[in-house]
Amino acid sequence: MSSPNSTKGLHVITWGCQMNVYDSARMTDVLAPLGYRPVESPDAADMVILNTCHIRDRAAEKVFSELGRLRLVKRERADQGRDTVIAVAGCVAQAEGEEITRRAPYVDIVLGPQTYHRLPEMVARAARAGGKVIETDFPAEQKFDFLPEAITAQAVPGASAAAPGLTAFLTVQEGCDKFCSFCVVPYTRGAESSRPVASVLAEARHLVARGAREITLLGQNVNAYHGTGPDGSDWSLARLAHALAEIDGLWRIRYTTSHPRDMDDDLIAAHRDLPQLMPFLHLPVQSGSDRMLSAMNRGHTADAYRRLVDRLRAARPDLALSSDFIVGHPGETEADFEATLQLVRDIGFAQAFSFKYSPRPGTPAAGAPLRVAESVADQRLQALQALLREQQAAFNADCVGRRAEVLFTGPGRHPGQIAGRTPWLQPIHVEGGESLIGARALVDIRAAATNSVSGALIGGARIAPSQTSEVDCLQPALEDHRA
Ligand code: SAH
Ligand code: SF4
Ligand code: F3S
Repeated sequence: MSSPNSTKGLHVITWGCQMNVYDSARMTDVLAPLGYRPVESPDAADMVILNTCHIRDRAAEKVFSELGRLRLVKRERADQGRDTVIAVAGCVAQAEGEEITRRAPYVDIVLGPQTYHRLPEMVARAARAGGKVIETDFPAEQKFDFLPEAITAQAVPGASAAAPGLTAFLTVQEGCDKFCSFCVVPYTRGAESSRPVASVLAEARHLVARGAREITLLGQNVNAYHGTGPDGSDWSLARLAHALAEIDGLWRIRYTTSHPRDMDDDLIAAHRDLPQLMPFLHLPVQSGSDRMLSAMNRGHTADAYRRLVDRLRAARPDLALSSDFIVGHPGETEADFEATLQLVRDIGFAQAFSFKYSPRPGTPAAGAPLRVAESVADQRLQALQALLREQQAAFNADCVGRRAEVLFTGPGRHPGQIAGRTPWLQPIHVEGGESLIGARALVDIRAAATNSVSGALIGGARIAPSQTSEVDCLQPALEDHRA
């Protein structure tokens, strides 16, 4: 193995939610003092980390097929006299633990999401002992108290290589106590816990000083945030958002993912009072049937969700909504599914993610009777996705004629174009010079496609309608990170 001070290659592969994107950057930071620097390919890497997701069956399978490929890389490098440390992090690591090294004995380190601050010590142990290191406990200390300042730019979906730090994620809360019937997160991420206010504000100021203009606060249930404030009192997410809004140079604040049950009056009011809080909210509902919501242990009814959306829209009339849906949960009947379609029609979503139920070992729903046939679940998923696509296109079309402030994040698809995000998280293309990247400007939205819009800078050139269909594929890339 190379000497401790020489530069070593580090290759991190990330699946799952935005929190994994954030964590991957933090693991890179914690390994930097050991000489590890990011490299593009596993062939050039002295260490490969797979940051994994366990949310659905397919997500977990991808990990083992990637491991199969890495085994060959490790063997080839060994033939050339080079070591490769393979580490499996994230939610599959937490859920499977030793099972991973049993199935893939060439894995050196298995580490759960709460142990990343101990990674340097694990690397040293793996090198010394040449054996396996498995750390999947939930330590008493908070990893954020031990991780260094964020230095690695995160691979934030939608952000451009031209301005990597312009939009940033910031984890403020982790874990979940809700125990929805279908979900592994409470088991893989542990109990809900919030970072102290001072630590969040310090990181936000640091990100802004490094060029961030938009910060998305992250948490598995981010609106359950209750961090200890400098005075020792409990701060809500709304109070935290107010404090963040005072940071000079921070133009935009977003947060994800919220639970309907934790949407309190103060947070709703913040959408009215804080111009920095963007008018876009991802608020998963999963189903529109009360019977299913109860079976899923979601703790609210479909009408309670409708009322909540009414209150949010009263506070911020242009609020765009996004959601998550599961079809085919055990016991779901045609009438239940119809109630989901009805809820979608009633609310009108700007975008949404929908999934076929995937049984997860150890969760209550996995052992429930009345499994829905695959073919039925497939049909329901198709019908729901068709409706959601229609709504997304309708929302985009509805934006035509609006004037919106756009944050420009990178070059467009065509020469002379630049790309950015509207307040409603839509990708937007306009004609303009690259000097605008990193800036914000008012744009007239002139045309819409299914996944994006286009427009013209006020007083600027107009985009020909023929170009609008070509920006279609620049759709919000969140899904890329949601397995
Ligand atoms: N904390 C978030 C959800 C995180 S998981 C919340 O409560 O909304 C992201 C999404 O994955 C969930 O909203 C759900 O729609 C989906 N999901 C979770 N477990 C699933 C499973 N077993 N099968 C299919 N989809 C699932
Ligand atoms: Fe999973 Fe439910 Fe917790 Fe969301 S609220 S992370 S779906 S258990
Ligand atoms: Fe874990 Fe996020 Fe996936 S919490 S299971 S990586 S969606």
